[in-house]
This record gives sequence, C-alpha cells and structure tokens, in this order.
Amino acid sequence: MIRSIVRGIGSALPRRIMKNADFEGMVETSDEWIAQRTGIRQRHIAADDETTASLGEAAARAALDNAGLTPADIDLIVLATSTPNNTFPATAVEIQNRLGMHHGFAFDMQAVCSGFVYAITTADLYIRGGLAKRVLVIGAETFSRILDWNDRSTCVLFGDGAGALVIEAAEGEGTIADRGILAASLRSDGVHKDKLYVDGGPSTTGTVGMLRMEGREVFKHAVGMITDVIEATYSETGITSDDLDWFVPHQANKRIIDASAKKLGIAEEKVVVTVNLHGNTSAASVPLALSVAVADGRIKKGDLVLLEAMGGGFTWGAVLLRW
Ligand code: UT7
Repeated sequence: MIRSIVRGIGSALPRRIMKNADFEGMVETSDEWIAQRTGIRQRHIAADDETTASLGEAAARAALDNAGLTPADIDLIVLATSTPNNTFPATAVEIQNRLGMHHGFAFDMQAVCSGFVYAITTADLYIRGGLAKRVLVIGAETFSRILDWNDRSTCVLFGDGAGALVIEAAEGEGTIADRGILAASLRSDGVHKDKLYVDGGPSTTGTVGMLRMEGREVFKHAVGMITDVIEATYSETGITSDDLDWFVPHQANKRIIDASAKKLGIAEEKVVVTVNLHGNTSAASVPLALSVAVADGRIKKGDLVLLEAMGGGFTWGAVLLRW
C-alpha cells in the first residue's frame, strides 16, 4: 500500500525574542506567573517585514533543503494557518509563488491550533488517493498580529513561527512497521466556538479582530479531548504508549502536556517540550517542536512518533507516524 513518509523538515522563527520579563511593564503580570502557569519563558515576535508567508516560505525552503529537493519536485502545498497574509488569496498560493513554483496546487487549512494535524492528515489522503506524490505541509502563524496587547490573560501565551515537512509517497507493507503516517483521528465540535475565537472577520465586522479566550474553559476540556483522539489511533493500530519513541504534543501549556502524558502513561523522557522556547504558535507548534527534536538528534528514522493538537472550534486530533 502507499504510505506518506517524511522526507524533510524545516522551520523558521522571527528574529526578535520576547522574554516573559518584557511584559512586566506592559500588563500586570510576572515572569513567575507565566512560567508557573504555562511553562513559557520566551516567544518570537514577528517584525513588520516578517509575515506568515515569509516565515512559511523560509520553513518550506529549509524542509526542501533537508529533503534534498527543489520546488520543482513538489505537487501540492497545504498551509495550516489562522493568520493568513490576506483574507484571500490563500497564503499557500503566495508561498507557492515565492518559491517560484508555477505548477501543482496550493491551499490553506484553518483549524487553529489543530491546523497542522488536520493538514498532514489531508496531505496523506491526497498522496494515498494518487492526486499528489510530494507535498509540502506547512504550519505558519503570526498570532502577535491578532493579540490584544492589553489583555494579560492572552497576550503572554502566544508567539510567531513556522515549521514545514516534505512528505512523499512510498510503498509500504500495510503494517505498523511501515514508515510514514499510520493512523489519524480528527474531531471538532462547534458548541465550543465562543471559548476561543477572534472577535472579527470579513463577513461580520469587516475587521480582522482580536483573539479572545476563556482559558480555564479551554484547559478544562483539553486533556480529555486530546486523550480521546490518541486512544482512537491506538485502537486502530494496536499501538500503545509503551511502543512510542516520541510524543510531540501541541505546545500550549506545559501543565496540559504533562497531564495528557500522565493520563496516557507516556514516560516523561519521551515527551518533546518546546513551549518554553516558542510559546503557543498555534498551527506552527507541532512542526516547530518536531524540528527541534530532529535537529538535536532525538527523533531518528524509524522512530514511532505521536502528534496531537487541540484548539479553537474546538478542533482536536492525533496522528501516529513512523519517522
Ligand atoms: O492552543 C489552544 C488551546 N489553548 C490553551 O490550551 C490554553 C488553555 N488554558 C490555559 O493554558 C490556562 O487556563 C491559562 C494559562 C490561560 C490560565 O491559567 P489558569 O491556571 O487556568 O489561570 P486562571 O485563568 O484560572 O487565572 C488565575 C488568575 C486570575 O486571577 P483571579 O481571578 O484568580 O484573581 C487571572 O486574572 O490569574 C490571573 N491572570 C494572570 N495573572 C498574572 C491571568 N493572566 C495572568 C497573567 N499574569 N498573565
């Protein structure tokens, strides 16, 4: 059977690093509160010349280099983002143009923090359906542009960045020993739409709007939702937490990551944590965490890796893959 295997990975971060202490003169907060409640120590914030498209392009180029490929080798770009450069056209198309790519097709996916998990699952279906052989799957965000910098309950949590994978078709045996994407489980439930949202949009206010969140409400649902979709991938494949080499969760809050790992019985040393470095970068968080763990030699070819994310909508999902 056809499997979608990872061929390359890359990332890009804005030049400017903002430390927790940098908020202390802006809103009533402290490095101690932010670090204790979230695990975040710093985040990258985009300058005016750094956009979702420029960060996405840089991550895509890094992933192509890592794969030993050029844009000519790519059939499809799927960009997960909730902070596009423009309402339309899709920022994926802008990235396609920046890469000098005038063949194939490109589109954006919007599932907020679950965007990358949705995007890689979608790319896998295009590959297995025969519509694409090689796909650039990108998660890129500039959440700093939709933050209310006077709201201490949200502005300290998010950051900007991008991560990208090149995935390609390869023959597999149809067993869990195969490399590539082995299982995915996606969910959404719009009953929660007002718990994490942006208070503007083209069809309502005609403005971009700002991020609003009932953090405690999101927290309350997160662990249960994350573990449900992960357990769905376990029952589909027969894989258990003991079989995993790496757990690469969405990086929103260290306490959510720890509670999810504990509930699933995943050993602490298998958990990749980058929320301290990047904050919550929404759809970029999982590929950014993957790129850190690949670059430092933790994730290696053949390793069994579990991805998960949960965010606005609510949306949530998990992907099991062998690197
Ligand atoms: O990626 C999408 C998913 N998003 C998430 O996963 C976020 C989920 N939620 C969370 O991570 C946490 O709920 C937060 C980090 C947002 C908040 O942590 P918490 O432990 O749930 O705190 P809380 O909302 O219950 O607030 C505790 C107190 C409040 O004061 P009172 O009402 O107890 O007097 C807040 O006003 O902390 C206050 N507070 C702050 N204090 C200092 C809220 N933000 C800050 C701040 N600095 N930045």
